[in-house]
Amino acid sequence: QFAFDEQSNAQIERIVARYPVGRQASAVIPLLYVAQKQMGRQSGSAWVPRAAMDAIAARLGMPPIRVYEVATFYFMFNTRPIGRFHLQVCGTTPCMLRGSDDVLRACKDAGHLKGYGDTSEDGLFTLTEVECLGACVNAPVLQVDDDYYEDLDYDRTVALLDALKRGERPKPGSTIGRQTSAPEGGPL
Ligand code: FES
Repeated sequence: QFAFDEQSNAQIERIVARYPVGRQASAVIPLLYVAQKQMGRQSGSAWVPRAAMDAIAARLGMPPIRVYEVATFYFMFNTRPIGRFHLQVCGTTPCMLRGSDDVLRACKDAGHLKGYGDTSEDGLFTLTEVECLGACVNAPVLQVDDDYYEDLDYDRTVALLDALKRGERPKPGSTIGRQTSAPEGGPL
């Protein structure tokens, strides 16, 4: 069973209003994002259960299969539960040349993770490899949930994960103070 909460319903109203009457199904991607964020708020695991997809289908008047297709096509949507923090290591060439292997090693060591696809036993971290995040200027980059952390090395990545474990949320962007390349706080 899944029901959108007050915060999500307010976001959904704003989002759906952007689309012409009869074209509300175009809002399926932002609504999947809203559902994933709500699950993160409520359960500490930002993912999209089948019941949420069904709620979106009902809300937008579209067949559920159309929502499932979109949710399973884009890797940004987690169709299984994940850890509280989603560590997404960019492994594409510029980040690889600038030390993404060290970022990966630091995530494994500090997060107690075996490798990509793993969730730590304490439920804090899930580790995923992603393709270029469009922030190569400050490579290597680690995306944590919606936030980009840039110019990382092994020690700075360990320090970031240690801060997350303490319940802190370091400021996103370049960890050495270079110009940041991504807006904070996600797409909504
Ligand atoms: Fe990592 Fe582009 S290659 S952000």
